[in-house]
Amino acid sequence: MSNHTFIEETRRRRTFAIISHPDAGKTTLTEKLLLFSGAIQIAGAVKGRKASRHATSDWMEIEKQRGISVASSVMQMLYRDHVINLLDTPGHKDFSEDTYRVLTAVDSALMVIDAANGVEAQTRRLIEVCRQRDTPIITFVNKMDREVRDPLDILDEVERELGMPCCPITWPVGQGKSFGGIINLRTQTMTVFTPGSDRGPKDFEVVPLAESDRLRQRFGQSFDDALESMELAQGASAAWNHADFLAGKLTPVFFGSGVNNFGVMEVLDAVVDMSPPPGPRVSTLQVNKQPVVKTIQPEDEGFSGVVFKVQANMDANHRDRIAFVRVASGKYTPGMKLKVQRTGKELRPTSVVTFMSQRREAVEEAYAGDIIGFTTHGGVQLGDTITDGANLQFTGLPFFAPELFMTVILKNPLRTKQLQQGLAQLGEEGAIQVFRPDVGGPMLLGAVGQLQFEVVQHRLKAEYDADVRLEGCQYTGARWITADSPADLRAFTDAYPMRLSHDAANALAYLCTSPYDVRLAQERFPKIHFHPLREHA
Ligand code: G4P
Repeated sequence: MSNHTFIEETRRRRTFAIISHPDAGKTTLTEKLLLFSGAIQIAGAVKGRKASRHATSDWMEIEKQRGISVASSVMQMLYRDHVINLLDTPGHKDFSEDTYRVLTAVDSALMVIDAANGVEAQTRRLIEVCRQRDTPIITFVNKMDREVRDPLDILDEVERELGMPCCPITWPVGQGKSFGGIINLRTQTMTVFTPGSDRGPKDFEVVPLAESDRLRQRFGQSFDDALESMELAQGASAAWNHADFLAGKLTPVFFGSGVNNFGVMEVLDAVVDMSPPPGPRVSTLQVNKQPVVKTIQPEDEGFSGVVFKVQANMDANHRDRIAFVRVASGKYTPGMKLKVQRTGKELRPTSVVTFMSQRREAVEEAYAGDIIGFTTHGGVQLGDTITDGANLQFTGLPFFAPELFMTVILKNPLRTKQLQQGLAQLGEEGAIQVFRPDVGGPMLLGAVGQLQFEVVQHRLKAEYDADVRLEGCQYTGARWITADSPADLRAFTDAYPMRLSHDAANALAYLCTSPYDVRLAQERFPKIHFHPLREHA
């Protein structure tokens, strides 16, 4: 137990996600952050979790990946008297929906870029999500020990891709074989690079820039070139402005080499010094069909939190699931009576855990910004709001209109009940989206990535004993439908009875076979709203 007051507890929390394109060095950096914060003793401990990255079509590997990701997708560490919650995001693009949801649970993001490759495809999509939410982003340019691109060039690309100015906080001297280290623009010192992965954060030599003759002697032309490009960068880029960073309008940029423990400490310090503590969250409650909006502050006394991830436990014999809850306000203590607002039912977890680096531990207390895992037998869905009494519903958890559809055919019709239960639960987890056509017939599965189908088909068999065949169908998209008046809605539903379906949350969706299809329907029914994204409400 700490000696901090309730308000200090929330203020000292930092909750962030690491985003990157596969291979940029996310796993390595995560491991080093944990190492430097003292959360893990042995380097290499995080490595195992991505062992299966290249073999995702293998069932066992998928299972392994799921298991491993449960254990390490949330990590908590203590650093400089701050509680840091680090959320991992799935590496595979087919699970990008999960990533989007994780991003709703954080207050900032750390973007890792491979200095040779710049901003890559997957990073771009994640940036978009951060931008939509104005999430502050710290940029780490990794692998400076390799032959990489010119730092000015990288800065330029980050600015363009992020659509926001960069502010370099450190600047590289040389690269690849001639990588000499980084200049810290604030302290006007140079930290000298030494390769190797056994160095602690304070073990690097630091030389004041004022001793430029000495540095020039050691690093030769690289040093002069670095000073020159640094000046250019400073001239061309924005001055540091904390408010702009917090508003998602400016990104601080750090250079380093994760695998060599180099430049990592600077990032960890930035998380503490620059990244925001938990902020307010908006609850929108429908009362008599009218939205009642309420802003919840982290310091509000009542406990509240939102489920941003649901994951089945690994033991197929138990239907346990872990609901990952981002605490929005108040304080959680064991034994507290909590309610799932959607159903009004009491939440009865079999266990409640925090995620101390690699271990799961029983929660002693949790505050805004923390992630706690409730193990339950069901009754909890993605997007659910959990409170100790207050009537709230947090919004903003996105569901994207699927682009891939398959029809589910059950091989043994006697297993219908199991199939329904399986689909309901997998739908609640967000593993896949399930659509029930209004005209009847087989259920439809909607996904954003192909691999989601494979995982679901496998899990239906393994966990629910429902052997299914998935067949292609004509649909290529869906739009969630709303209308301002029941009469407008009626006119629309009468016109397209064959195209309508309801999803797991019982929201009405229009299934389409091409983009033209949607456009035509929109032209025909201008009063109908076609939503490509549904927010849990
Ligand atoms: P990811 O989670 O973003 O997919 O990347 P990960 O950390 O696994 O790193 C991808 C590869 O890049 C790894 O090499 C890792 O060692 C290497 N790497 C990470 N940071 C640096 C760096 O600063 N400099 C250099 N030169 N390499 C770096 P690998 O060969 O795929 O795996 P491994 O056998 O080294 O573990």
